[in-house]
Amino acid sequence: MADLQLSNLVSGKPVLLEKNGVSVCVTRVGDEVFAINDVCSHSDASLSEGDVTDFKIECWLHGAEFDLRTGEAITLPANMPVAVYAVKVDGDSVTIEI
Ligand code: FES
Repeated sequence: MADLQLSNLVSGKPVLLEKNGVSVCVTRVGDEVFAINDVCSHSDASLSEGDVTDFKIECWLHGAEFDLRTGEAITLPANMPVAVYAVKVDGDSVTIEI
């Protein structure tokens, strides 16, 4: 069963998904969908409340940026990556593999 529907996701507007006890930040960029752990690796902030530019998401609390594709921390103060989860898009069905 799908976790989300592609047609409900707006490009550049992240959403929070709780799945199997994990908080996931799901972001559509164009026709691609990316899923990373929602908790910033710097401190306890929800990345799904951050701003997206291209393939980057910026933590709203202290401004660290992460690559949505790899989870890599691009700018300080975060220096640890966040986990990335595989996303399956099948027609309108979006499934996060956790
Ligand atoms: S909590 Fe995200 S940058 Fe500090």
